[in-house]
Amino acid sequence: MHGGNVGFEDFLRTTLPFLGFNWTRFRKRMIRRRLAKRMGALALRSWDSYREELLSNPREAAHVHTLLTVSISRFWRNRALFDQLRKFHFPALMNCLGEDEPVVVWSAGAASGQEAFSLSMLYHSLPERIRGGRKLTLVASDIDFHLLRRGQENKWTAGEVREVPCGVAEQFLWIDELGAHLSGVVRTEVLFVCHDLFEPPPLRQAHVVFCRNSVMTYFHGPSREQAMARISQMIPRGGYLILGRKETLPKRWAARWSFFHTGHRIYQKIT
Ligand SMILES: C[S@@+](CC[C@H](N)C(=O)[O-])C[C@H]1O[C@@H](n2cnc3c(N)ncnc32)[C@H](O)[C@@H]1O
Repeated sequence: MHGGNVGFEDFLRTTLPFLGFNWTRFRKRMIRRRLAKRMGALALRSWDSYREELLSNPREAAHVHTLLTVSISRFWRNRALFDQLRKFHFPALMNCLGEDEPVVVWSAGAASGQEAFSLSMLYHSLPERIRGGRKLTLVASDIDFHLLRRGQENKWTAGEVREVPCGVAEQFLWIDELGAHLSGVVRTEVLFVCHDLFEPPPLRQAHVVFCRNSVMTYFHGPSREQAMARISQMIPRGGYLILGRKETLPKRWAARWSFFHTGHRIYQKIT
């Protein structure tokens, strides 16, 4: 028996905060089904026993991240954000960098890399006079190894690429009966890394960090603060942090970041 609804809610309330999660986000039937299936696979018969397992076994605690969070993503997600980055912020960033200084971009909690590939497209669709001779280093990380592996298969659904602007799609995508595929430099430019956002970042510095719809959505308390503080430290002055549409940095961080009031969560580091 996996217990009734009360048992499940008690399980969420008394377990997830210890793992850093904001438990109120998970009172959903779909999550309950996923966790119950996992308990079945571990031959555990009550929410109490799964709680014990999670709190005593760090490997299971890491695994539960992939069951609790949603992995939906798509190319050019919130298209107006990418349009704005291409028009204003990337050119401004190029202006601040040295002639040959590589541009480093990290998509953290990247699912299968849809966001990172979008950034590669964005970068290569900038006029050459703006890009100069600069190379792009592009890292996509996620805790879920299977999602990362899918990102390397280069087979995307029509829904995943529907927001890519026509001109960009013509340049970097081709479509056949199996789906949409990336072509040219964009196809191989992303470096995939399996990484837990609660561990030290996989890079020393990044000029642009995308951290959308992961840390700020699912987690709370000290673990979230710590993850965001680490990310913030690796962004140099003038660099950007991009959050999801409904996510905001804590107010007390305001002195270090300027926020562009354009409906997108684009923060630029000022000190
Ligand atoms: C909704 S997707 C967001 C994808 C992309 N950033 C976007 O906004 O389209 C959330 C991703 O966060 C990942 N994730 C959840 N917990 C994580 C953790 N502790 N470390 C790294 N990634 C994590 C999930 O595996 C999932 O792929």
